[in-house]
Order: sequence, then C-alpha cells, then structure tokens
Amino acid sequence: MSKGLVRSGPDLFSFKSAKHRAEKFLMPQKDFKKNILCIGAGYVGGPTMTIIANKCSDYKITVVDISKERIAAWNSNELPIFEPGLKDRLLKVRGKNLFFSNDIDTSIDQADIIFVCVNTPIKKFGEGAGKAVDLQFIEQTARRIKENSKSNKIIVEKSTLPVRAAATLENILHSGNEKVRFEILSNPEFMAEGTAVRDMEFPDRVLIGSKDTPAGLAARQELVDLYLHWVPKENLITTNLWSSELSKLVSNGFLAQRISSINSIATLCEVTEADVTEVSKAVGKDSRIGPKFLNAGPGFGGSCFRKDILNLVYLCEHYQLNEVASFWEQVVSLNDYQMEHYVRRILQAMFNTLAGKKLAVFGFAFKPNTGDTRDSPAIYICKRLLEEKAYLRITDPQALKNARNDLQDLENLEFVEDPYKAAEGVHGIALITDWAEYSKLDFQEIFDKMEKPAFIFDGRNQLNRLALFDIGFNVYSVGKAPLTHF
Ligand code: UDX
Ligand code: UDX
Repeated sequence: MSKGLVRSGPDLFSFKSAKHRAEKFLMPQKDFKKNILCIGAGYVGGPTMTIIANKCSDYKITVVDISKERIAAWNSNELPIFEPGLKDRLLKVRGKNLFFSNDIDTSIDQADIIFVCVNTPIKKFGEGAGKAVDLQFIEQTARRIKENSKSNKIIVEKSTLPVRAAATLENILHSGNEKVRFEILSNPEFMAEGTAVRDMEFPDRVLIGSKDTPAGLAARQELVDLYLHWVPKENLITTNLWSSELSKLVSNGFLAQRISSINSIATLCEVTEADVTEVSKAVGKDSRIGPKFLNAGPGFGGSCFRKDILNLVYLCEHYQLNEVASFWEQVVSLNDYQMEHYVRRILQAMFNTLAGKKLAVFGFAFKPNTGDTRDSPAIYICKRLLEEKAYLRITDPQALKNARNDLQDLENLEFVEDPYKAAEGVHGIALITDWAEYSKLDFQEIFDKMEKPAFIFDGRNQLNRLALFDIGFNVYSVGKAPLTHF
C-alpha cells in the first residue's frame, strides 16, 4: 500500500524570491512516512485530521473539500467551525504536515490512506425518504477516488454509514478497475461536538473494522500503527467490517435511548412532584447503569442521533424486523414529544396564550460549546412558539449565524448577542441550551427589566431555581413541579 517515503512539506509553497529558493535547498526537507488524505472538511474531517497531524508529525495530512469556501476558511484565521482547543492545535501543524486544499484529484492520486468524511444526511426524496441515509455523496466520492487512483489505497469509512455500506463501496471502487486495489476499513468517529479535541486525544476506544483477509488485516495494521502514535493499545478495538459499521449506529442509539428514557420520566416527575435530577442521580449511582447521558432536557439534537436511529430503523424494516424497528423508532417519537411538551408547558403556564407576548430564547445551538444548530431542539421549539404568535428574541454565544439561516423567512423574531438585551421587556425566558455563561448572569437585573409576572422555563435544569423563585420568577424546570407565585 505504501509508496515509501514521500517528500513533501515546504515543496508545496511557491518560494518567490531567490533568497527563499536558496533557503529551500539549505533547509533539510521533511520526509513523510505516509500521505493521508481526508475528503470532507466538516465538523468531523477538520478536527479529526488536526489531531492526527498533531500526533503524527511523520505523516503528511491533506484535507480536501468540494467547497472552496470551506477550504479557504480552514486556511484563514476564521475557522469554519467553533470547537474549543481546535485553533491552537491547528496553528501548530497547518503548513507543516497539515494542508487544506481544493485539488481533490491530485490529492487522491498521491494518497496512501483516504479517510472519507463527507456528510451522510437523511434522504429527503423517493424510497426511504425521511429515514434512509442519502448515499449520493459517498458514491460520488467513491467514483472520484476510482477515477484518480493510479496506485493501491486504503479507504477508511469515517462517515456514519448503514451496515454493509463497505460492500457497496468496494463494488463501485473495483468495477471496471482491474489495476488498482482498494482495501476498505471502517473507523467510525465517536467525537462529540464541544469536546471533539479531548475525545480525539483521549478516546475511550478507537474502533477499526476490516475484512479478515491478509490484505484486510494488513490495511488494518496500517491504521492501528497510525493510532498507536498516541492511543494506548488496549483502547484499540478491531472487529469485522459489519460489526464496526453497526457499532457506531448502536452507540448513538443507546446514548439517545438513555436521553429519551430520562425525558419520559421527567414528564412523570412534573406531575408527581418527584424531581428528575434526584431520580437521575439515584438511578445513575447504580454502577450497572452509570450517571452519564441521564440529564433531562428539551430533547436531543445534533447531526447524528436522529439520523443514526432512523437509519437503524430503516435497516431493521429492510430485514423485516418490524418489532425491533418500532422499538428504536419510539426513541425518536419520544424526542419529538419532549420538544412539543416543552412548548405546551410554556403555553399552559402563560395563561394558554402567547399571542402578543415576548419571549427571550437563551441558547440555540444543539448543545453548548458549539455553533452547530443541526437538528437543534431550538429550531422546532422556536417555530412552534412563533406559530403561537409569540415574538422571539434569540440569543446564543456562537450559533446566531446558523440560527438566522434556520429561521430565515420567518417573522416576529430578532437575534440579539447580549442576553441582558434579549430579556429586556420580555414576559418569559426559554432556556434551551445550557451555555455555562447563563449560570453567571445577574438574574435580579434581568428580572427587574422584564414584564410581570415573569416566567422562566429552564429546559436544562441549569439554573438555581430556588434563587430564581426568591427573586420573583415563576420557575418551570424540566422534570420538576413548578415554583409559582400564584
Ligand atoms: C459527519 C459524518 O460524515 C456523518 O456521517 C456523521 O454522521 C456526522 O458527521 P460532518 O463532518 O458533520 O459529517 O458534516 P459536514 O460538516 O457537513 O461536512 C461534510 C463536508 O464534506 C462538507 O464540507 C462538504 O462540502 C464535504 N463534501 C460533501 C465533499 O467534500 N464532497 C462531497 O461529495 C460531499
Ligand atoms: C454524538 C455522540 O455523543 C458522539 O459519540 C458521536 O460521534 C456523534 O454524536 P454529539 O451529537 O456531538 O455527539 O453530542 P452529544 O454530547 O452526544 O449530545 C447530543 C444531544 O443530546 C445534545 O442535544 C445534548 O444536549 C443532548 N443530551 C446529551 C441530553 O439532552 N442529555 C444528556 O444527558 C446528554
């Protein structure tokens, strides 16, 4: 697979002056052991390759994308995504062993290992619409790899794909192409946004699926060698291809299922005066259950959970496992219910009408420490509140640009950076994303400038509800009986 040592690095720059040219020959050029290519410079490709470049200075990493804008942003000071710790890491390696380029075809030809990180959204049309994965970008990428490869390569599925997608990839790559061999590996990403850098630097596990053939095992070893630069051996798990592909869907399914489970109990707590935080703590203390992903909220969001579960449902239906499909579908239905329940609680608390009332929305990103709003519960909740004829002032430290895009063409809303200004003169506050800065706000000052009675709907149980109640707020925390002054 390997082409041996690759001379690269400073060669890529055009040295304009004679002085530079002289220096170029005086300076020893760096030899790279491998050429790694990543196709897709998004939330997954960018951070993943930045960490690999930091940890593997002997590998040359190139990231390409069909979007010129994205590549330009990765080459600038304004990175296309916000991710804590990413910029520091990127600046250490960009131009040294990490390069962002639009030259997809040449980069394919030069690569030993190609990570496929293009997006795999839910299909919006035709058969499987709303459930199946839209594989058109994967297929286009595979065809482009085939057209531009003159040497054998390892292809790594990083994007989340349906089980047995590797077989389809292999068919496309090898059809009509006798000379070049491609070995497919599955190496799903387990990075969560907001903690992507830490998740990559200290992964719980790295999963690598391969075929059990000599070529498959050799390819697997190449990826193992890459990760061994920083990941302890015991954290590397190797499986067959299908187990690896399926494990990614199942991991996200299990995580989302825990959230839907606790959210279902939150609703029960609200009417029985049990407190979901206490229940979650009591249940999570059982070491067989564990404490993580048991925080009730307004519903899960993000680009993965809904998509991956629906993908699982579609697969089960395809194999006519209808009971299994409906078990997983229920996780998504419960999530839809949770978002709607949050809206209804606001409506009921505010005397069954929101018409003409102003609401401040605190947080629009699907979780804190990211500007990503894909499938954020805030999108659904805001649209519903607007349907009820509320006027919205939306604030978020990182996500306002995406929020504007998500709610374009809608009226009766504005986007405000300062949460104090967002809350001025409003009847209620809906806290949807638990940004740490919201805990530090002066709620007395906020309360003083609000309409009365003042309501707060803490969708994340982030704020001190007793303190808010003492200030004068009517407090509705998820999974707890309300604290009201009526
Ligand atoms: C990833 C995974 O790939 C997806 O399977 C997983 O479930 C979620 O995370 P992500 O990195 O978040 O996707 O997607 P996105 O930020 O949209 O980035 C994908 C990039 O691929 C985009 O920049 C897009 O321009 C690029 N792309 C897409 C290509 O370069 N070629 C294509 O053919 C299609
Ligand atoms: C997820 C997986 O965690 C990650 O391993 C995978 O690779 C990509 O998908 P991500 O979607 O970035 O990561 O964020 P995650 O931290 O899993 O949160 C997803 C959603 O669940 C968010 O909307 C979050 O607010 C919500 N959540 C999470 C809860 O409502 N309660 C919890 O206890 C935890």
